[in-house]
Amino acid sequence: MASLAPTLSSTISRLTHLHKPSLHSAITTLKNFRFKQKLSKRIRPFINSSPSSLSAHFSSAQMRSTVGSDDDLVVLGIETSCDDTAAAVVRSNGEILSQVVSSQADLLVQYGGVAPKMAEEAHSKVIDQVVQEALDKANLSESDLSAVAVTIGPGLSLCLRVGVQKARKLAGTYALPIVGVHHMEAHALVARLVQGELQFPFLVLLISGGHNLLILARDLGNYVQLGTTIDDAIGEAYDKTAKWLGLDLRKSGGPAVEDLAREGLKTQVRLAVESGSINPEIPVSSASSEDRKERANIAASFQRVAVLHLEEKCERAIEWASKIEPSIKHLVVSGGVASNQYVRARLNQIVEKNCLQLVCPPPKLCTDNGVMVAWTGIEHFRMGRFDPPPPTNEPEDAVLDLRPRWPLGEEYTEGRSEARSIRRARIHPSLTSLIQASMQQQS
Ligand code: KG4
Ligand code: ZN
Repeated sequence: MASLAPTLSSTISRLTHLHKPSLHSAITTLKNFRFKQKLSKRIRPFINSSPSSLSAHFSSAQMRSTVGSDDDLVVLGIETSCDDTAAAVVRSNGEILSQVVSSQADLLVQYGGVAPKMAEEAHSKVIDQVVQEALDKANLSESDLSAVAVTIGPGLSLCLRVGVQKARKLAGTYALPIVGVHHMEAHALVARLVQGELQFPFLVLLISGGHNLLILARDLGNYVQLGTTIDDAIGEAYDKTAKWLGLDLRKSGGPAVEDLAREGLKTQVRLAVESGSINPEIPVSSASSEDRKERANIAASFQRVAVLHLEEKCERAIEWASKIEPSIKHLVVSGGVASNQYVRARLNQIVEKNCLQLVCPPPKLCTDNGVMVAWTGIEHFRMGRFDPPPPTNEPEDAVLDLRPRWPLGEEYTEGRSEARSIRRARIHPSLTSLIQASMQQQS
């Protein structure tokens, strides 16, 4: 555990540098205005594109250098792909100006999981307020922004739509460019905000409620998928375990299992679920001490097995990744489950054994958040990958570019699994293949 301290403390100390802009913001506003004027001339060629399209347009090398050289950007990020409504304002130097998350914990408890229609309604109810709060906390107004970034996939399309509509409305009204963001890429790239010196290529383990992914990040927009979810994602397994053990789901299942597992670590593990002695209808808070001990044992053994599985996958991915990119030095672990201390400690051992370094964003940036979306927006915007401001009069029922099933990269052939080939229907081309195709068109 002690060996984790340097990584964690360095991420935390960077976060404590966050400040609200005062005089500086006035200067930046002026700079942004000039930048926007320059940009608006540049983006004109894209304005004829389909009004509802959010697919990234890729600019010429000339434009790329112009955007890259004026690097004082302030981007609003919006995230609604699952059950959290989140927004944040981030500056291109890595300062987080604000971060707001409204979670649907009560709905989760009520329905025992995410119900898409309910989640959509909950997002719609709070989205305006969440975005406004993010701007207020950053001490900025919409016109101070350089661009709006929004998650367009993967996720629940009903939920994605709420964020995308909000982003397009705002971008249309204030003539802001818009960047469509891949949710899993955002989980990975937030590590580069946290640890400024993290360079490509690096290995990434993404562990969340919907996906387990092992990715080799070769460059921005160039990812090789070394492994992916076959059955349940680990976060989902945590959530189910929490439900079966009658745990308090308000914080989401993962942390509840982690807490209880701590109590079970020292005792002999017995799988009492099979004996039928645990009744999830009885909340753990009112269970007898014997019953509680039994549940703690199960939580601990579940956690041990689940994480052992991750450890094995990581070892293999490190081997593969080092073959493809021998210069990798880091393993990034992100996504909701990466906030688990046991997971971090176990993976740190694997990483040290292989002479790599572990990079884990702080828990607030591991679970779904707007900062990762804003940051990923900044990374792509710098490369000239964005769409022009949408029209101000876009109809409410415009067909939007939403990508509920959207792989991050192509599969590494050695890692391909038979089980997954059946699940290929209705998948959007991967982010990496789209970016590579557009780069070929330009050259
Ligand atoms: O990345 P995330 O916020 O949302 C998705 O994109 O899915 O991940 C949410 C998942 C949930 O399954 C939650 O139970 C899990 O992350 N989680 C944890 C912990 N904190 C959140 N799992 C294990 N231990 C934790 N401390
Ligand atoms: Zn997520």
